[in-house]
Amino acid sequence: MMKITKVNKIKGIVHPPGDKSISHRVALISALSDGENTIENFLFADDTNKTLECLQKLGVEVEIGEKLKIKGKGIKNFSSPHSILDAGNSGTTIRLLAGILAGQKFNSEITGDDSLRKRPMRRIVKPLQMMGAKIEPTEEGTAPLKIYGVDNLNPIEYELEIPSAQVKSCLIFAGLHASGKTKIIEKIPTRDHTERLLGLKARFENGKKVIEVEGGRKIEPANYLIPNDISSAAFFIVAGAIIPNSNIRIKNVTLNPTRTAFIEILRQMGADIETENVKEVMGEPIGDVIVKSKKEVNLKNLTLLGDVIPGIIDEIPILSIAGAIGEGKFEVRDALELRKKESDRIKAIVENLRAMGVDVEEYEDGFAFEGKNRLKGALIKTFNDHRIAMAFSIAGLIAEGETVIDNPDCVKISFPTFFEILSSVVNF
Ligand code: S3P
Repeated sequence: MMKITKVNKIKGIVHPPGDKSISHRVALISALSDGENTIENFLFADDTNKTLECLQKLGVEVEIGEKLKIKGKGIKNFSSPHSILDAGNSGTTIRLLAGILAGQKFNSEITGDDSLRKRPMRRIVKPLQMMGAKIEPTEEGTAPLKIYGVDNLNPIEYELEIPSAQVKSCLIFAGLHASGKTKIIEKIPTRDHTERLLGLKARFENGKKVIEVEGGRKIEPANYLIPNDISSAAFFIVAGAIIPNSNIRIKNVTLNPTRTAFIEILRQMGADIETENVKEVMGEPIGDVIVKSKKEVNLKNLTLLGDVIPGIIDEIPILSIAGAIGEGKFEVRDALELRKKESDRIKAIVENLRAMGVDVEEYEDGFAFEGKNRLKGALIKTFNDHRIAMAFSIAGLIAEGETVIDNPDCVKISFPTFFEILSSVVNF
């Protein structure tokens, strides 16, 4: 249990941990390289630790120190694991690693915790099978995934049925194990860290992004510096925008445009957000985000739907907290994918906002409510979902009375130091 009460303002400098999406990818790409990699600012959190543990079980040497060291084994060279691989709560681990396992010569099985075993896997199983992979989910199309060794994968041309960076990255990794050129087509662009890290060429054809992967190419080992996580920063960015008299600087976060759509939305709502010290590190734009608020917070609500949704999918829980105090109707539609995350996030947002006194309407693909609420402290059900825990902790900072987070520990999935950093910037 974690108790949270109303604060006066937030002020200070925040260093969020390393980016989760990039950490997973750098670990996997390092493991596939031909030599020793050093990685600075790797995110050591439950999700990314699962990726490291799986790689170790696959014979990859991982040395955890101030800098992470990973000795790559090259494409198609992992060793057969002696036990079932466990991705824990991490969708990125299971879906990306499945793309690599599908191209190995040995059999393997990968599973996860109760939440992960409910999440849809056919989205990767179907295209992997088209490549000739022998991969079997359960009858419900979920994990455990049984993967049987093959000599080769075939390259395919595949248009993603749902916008998903996990599916895209899974197929890029499988494509590295195929004989020939795999083409992946995206109607709606999603986070592109895998392409950037592998230096893949992409072009636009008829408004769609076409990514090409050459099978069997060698990956050079490298020294990586991982930027701080903009999705972890999002909680502090919204806090700075909704708590009066705040002034907060968040250091060195990914400003990759496939990740920053929520900042544009907050600006449209009237938040004062600036970026500074912008530079490029390892092919990713990074910089500081500065958020200031006045004595009177005056945000205007809007409707979020259609192609906007994939770009803000991880930030909808925290954006809805901004919506709770903004003026006018706040509505999210076309976001069915939210029900397939670490928890059913539509249900989690709706239930918890209602507990805080907001009159929310729930739809299959979203929710809506009128803004300008005076939130009241409540018992928050996290459903063991890190982003729900963090979003409603921020809500607790503006609510009247006490807010209690039922399982604060789940923030360890992506942001183990969240509560320490939060207490260092709040002013009573
Ligand atoms: C992620 C992609 C997104 C996101 C998740 C991380 C990634 O999932 O929600 O937190 O690292 O590729 P989908 O690809 O399923 O939308």
